[in-house]
Amino acid sequence: MTADNLFEPQILAFCCKYCAYAAGDLAGSMRLTYPANVKIIQVPCTGRVDMSHLLKAIENGADGVYVAGCLEGECHFLEGNLKARKRVAAVRKLLAEAGIEPERVQMFNLSSAMGPRFAEIATDMTETIRRLGPSPVRRRDPIAL
Ligand code: FES
Repeated sequence: MTADNLFEPQILAFCCKYCAYAAGDLAGSMRLTYPANVKIIQVPCTGRVDMSHLLKAIENGADGVYVAGCLEGECHFLEGNLKARKRVAAVRKLLAEAGIEPERVQMFNLSSAMGPRFAEIATDMTETIRRLGPSPVRRRDPIAL
């Protein structure tokens, strides 16, 4: 086993309560497994997730961050998920300019009925970040996400 195999990414997921968070509950009810690397923060709508939240997560040592909102056209606040998508894109651009892999920050859309998709996203994101390795801005101290 190499040192890379020992790396357990710390990932933060901002999940809309109407879709992704509910899909996570469904995944649990369906007894689907997904990596424990993902820590979930429930938000009332992804439109409430600001660029500063995403950047702060990276600054505080998250190896990856994603925003999971309702399907496009189904946001309960009309365009919250579209705003979130733009903010994620802007943060990815900033990271790239700073020499940090933009793949560390991502946006997904799903419905509350997509329990398997929720588990798949968490798994895929964990694999992506594991492949990238620890965040270059990760602090040496253990963090509390
Ligand atoms: Fe779910 Fe806006 S209510 S993303």
